[in-house]
Amino acid sequence: MAIRALLGDDALFNVIESVESTGSTNADVAALARAGALEGHVVVAAEQTAGRGRLDRTWVSPRGASLSLSVLLKPEPEFPRWGWLSLLAGMAVASTLADIAPDPSRVQLKWPNDVLIDGAKVCGILSERVERPTGALAVVGIGLNLDLGRDELPVPHSTSLSLEGFPVDREELVAGLLRHLEHYYRLWQATGSLVEEYRARCTSVGSELSITVAPEKVVRGRGHGVDEFGRLLVSTATGIQAFAAGDVVHARMHR
Ligand code: BTN
Repeated sequence: MAIRALLGDDALFNVIESVESTGSTNADVAALARAGALEGHVVVAAEQTAGRGRLDRTWVSPRGASLSLSVLLKPEPEFPRWGWLSLLAGMAVASTLADIAPDPSRVQLKWPNDVLIDGAKVCGILSERVERPTGALAVVGIGLNLDLGRDELPVPHSTSLSLEGFPVDREELVAGLLRHLEHYYRLWQATGSLVEEYRARCTSVGSELSITVAPEKVVRGRGHGVDEFGRLLVSTATGIQAFAAGDVVHARMHR
């Protein structure tokens, strides 16, 4: 297919299945993994009818207005470091959007992996682990709002590329996402950590923020950095704390 040709012969992502509609591309890639698929397998869909989000939420991916893409990876670093997969996928999306942005500074990354345009969420990422007798694999799924109109946006403070005046060329976007994802994934495999690269891109670092870690537990502080496991380090009244998961809100995020 054309996307495969755009990537080159030795690309990591070498099997690209494109479907009009499916339940969830993450579920599809997980099933393919259990059936023996190899690292580098990709499923792309124009619509999901049962899209999965973080923290057991649903993810809305209407036909023609969204891009859903999942990849199969077999990371070398040990499992505790796999938190980096979602972070590096966010870096890949942010780089892809910065390439096509009318003004790249409008594209931001909020820990762990929300990609924002002027503070509004345009993309979500979900990484899942799949067990196989020969070893665990990872499915990394990316959902991007392409042409959603204001009345179709699933939650407040979200947006779409077209609402922000970004060009929407599905094939170019998929090729860009896979190219940047391969770059950051290979770099992480080689170095084990992308702390400095991530710090430079993520606006949570240096921002006043709150992080909800449980329904009744909200921690406030200032983003300090990320550690070698991809955890967010927050400078709080009681010292620096590390968080592996949670919902972050920046004090000055919404327009
Ligand atoms: C989030 O809650 O922000 C994460 C959303 C992740 C959605 C993507 S769309 C492609 C892949 N397939 C799914 O079912 N979910 C992920």
